[in-house]
Amino acid sequence: MEFIKVTEQKEPFIALIELNRPKELNALNKQLMEEVRDALQALDKNDQVRVIIITGNEQAFAAGADIKQMADKSAIDMLLIDQFSTWDQIRRTKKPIIAAVSGFALGGGCEFAMTCDMIIASETAKFGQPEIKIGTIPGAGGTQRLTRAIGKAKSMELILTGRFLSAEDALYYGLVNKVVPKEMYMLETMQLAKEIAQLSPVAVQLAKEAVNRSFETHLDEGLAFERKNFYLTFASEDQKEGMKAFVEKRKADFKGK
Ligand code: CAA
Repeated sequence: MEFIKVTEQKEPFIALIELNRPKELNALNKQLMEEVRDALQALDKNDQVRVIIITGNEQAFAAGADIKQMADKSAIDMLLIDQFSTWDQIRRTKKPIIAAVSGFALGGGCEFAMTCDMIIASETAKFGQPEIKIGTIPGAGGTQRLTRAIGKAKSMELILTGRFLSAEDALYYGLVNKVVPKEMYMLETMQLAKEIAQLSPVAVQLAKEAVNRSFETHLDEGLAFERKNFYLTFASEDQKEGMKAFVEKRKADFKGK
């Protein structure tokens, strides 16, 4: 791995992926995203991993797709390279992914963070879709995910002007889960990850799948999907353990089975 660093057990059951192209503010070139895809596929299969954290560095989560790599390409080059298809793996990952964002999360960087399941932001975080300023538009989900996350009016403003959204405003508009001082954003993310990692990974996976389904279907279908996943948890040892522990007034020990 040249552009990312993967730590499988940052803490028990918690994996960390660090984007590592600091000089380019973690601009997301094709290879970096292929490395992310491969890492996520491997972590999803690793039963010692229950939660995945993705982060950049203090200055930048990621300042977008690599403009230098794209600048001279034709439409057909872009079509054939189809580099954003590697991003689909982020969406397909079954385990929860938390983005820990400090500094710039722009263009593809903002889209990457939004493709994760939750975002913890440092007070220094700046979100935005500034593609319009370089004569193009978001291409990895920005027009869809930002609009779903913060609503049409603000999303339209950001996408049509390229303005940035401060961490405080990102919290106000519901783009991020929490904003904390810059020394705290990894700690806060780790705390959230630890809380989830103690729970039944089977239930967590089924819950994530059901929440995501709400973006893709109408209410009737979504409710039916949720109910089936709810019933399915009753096939797990974790559900038996969880309910038994509640009755016995002790902490449950979830095995992921
Ligand atoms: N692609 C390639 N290189 C980038 C980059 C990007 N997206 N963002 C920053 N860099 C590089 C700069 O070229 C610079 O490299 P050199 O030192 O070799 O010149 C280095 O990172 C540091 O950047 P700056 O000197 O510009 O740093 P700054 O602090 O003055 O500005 C910034 C920071 C405001 C984030 C500015 O770098 C910037 O505007 N970056 C581009 C943001 C952008 O437009 N992102 C969208 C990209 S398109 C996209 O993402 C499409 C999509 O939907 C997937």
